[in-house]
Amino acid sequence: MQKSKKILVTGGAGYIGAYVNKLLQLEGYDTVVLDNLYSGERNSVHKGFFIEGDFGDEFLMNQIFSDHRIDGVMHFAAYTSVGESYLNPMKYYANNVSNTISLLNTMIKNGVNHFVFSSSAAVFGIPLVCPIKESAVMMPINPYGETKKIIEKILRDYRTAYGLSSSSLRYFNAAGGDPAEEIIAKRTHVHNLIPIAFRSILNNTPLTIYGTDYETNDGTCIRDYIHVHDIATAHILALEQIFENPGCTDYNLGIGKGFSVKEVIDVVEKVTGHVVPYQIGPRRQGDPPILIAGSEKAQKNLGWNPLYTDLESMVAHTWNTTVREELFSELSG
Ligand SMILES: NC(=O)c1ccc[n+]([C@@H]2O[C@H](COP(=O)([O-])OP(=O)(O)OC[C@H]3O[C@@H](n4cnc5c(N)ncnc54)[C@H](O)[C@@H]3O)[C@@H](O)[C@H]2O)c1
Repeated sequence: MQKSKKILVTGGAGYIGAYVNKLLQLEGYDTVVLDNLYSGERNSVHKGFFIEGDFGDEFLMNQIFSDHRIDGVMHFAAYTSVGESYLNPMKYYANNVSNTISLLNTMIKNGVNHFVFSSSAAVFGIPLVCPIKESAVMMPINPYGETKKIIEKILRDYRTAYGLSSSSLRYFNAAGGDPAEEIIAKRTHVHNLIPIAFRSILNNTPLTIYGTDYETNDGTCIRDYIHVHDIATAHILALEQIFENPGCTDYNLGIGKGFSVKEVIDVVEKVTGHVVPYQIGPRRQGDPPILIAGSEKAQKNLGWNPLYTDLESMVAHTWNTTVREELFSELSG
């Protein structure tokens, strides 16, 4: 009988990694989950072998690769706040770039040659054309996006020089939660609009809508939201693709349509039954009016088809998997 493949999931206690770990296990993979619990939550990891530690710790990584027969790495661990990356780029380049280079080098030394990378729509900056295809020029406008672009470039060079196979998945705005409601988390570190709207409700503090004078239907920015379940299925398909056909690829992941900030707030109010307090602020520098993914490449090459394309499901799954009471007491305390 063929032995199941073992995948190292860095950042597997985080929002997206925890759900991908669950799906990997359901699909018959063995997993080793590594997370330093900076923003991840230990009780989000229900299956797999959990190690609390830092992926930048070369000694620890060597130990993991020699103790476990790892076939591939899914790399979610990173710092993820665009705003913080402007204020403290050193922190972002150290974790998202230096630590990732150290991880890649340790993988290569240990003969681990398959890598799926959590990239981001932030690599594109302000797009010239929407929907954004993989061929669009990458011009990040913040240090966070720059860190992702740098790693993508390194992955191309490492393919040529060392034969490392990789797939960079550029998600647009991740949304939703475990549809089976098994992974429940506080998500105090999540920087996306939907959990921010929840915080506004739970803490009764207004969220700020940055700009209502964009050339969109209601004047607010439009974003493409992608459910974590669909991110997870894309990860598994991308992993299988590089196992079967070694190479270096990239995919943009979104549903191909966008929702405005106001539309998201309306759906949050409808799903939760609570009013979202908000205030209007000026435009934020570097916020593109519309970001929509062109995901035809993933559909064609991976056979990927997003299951959840309605905002109601994404909001409901996020709401039902967020620890509301603790979030309230933490934020108000
Ligand atoms: N959430 C989104 O909308 C979105 C969009 C595009 C890309 N991404 C990328 O997807 C990945 C996962 O994002 P997320 O939303 O789940 O964020 P998250 O903060 O919930 O998860 C990141 C995890 O990595 C861990 N971590 C960070 N640095 C570490 C280190 N040095 N060693 C070990 N663990 C470490 C954190 O504790 C956390 O559990 C990130 O790489 C992020 O840049 C996210």
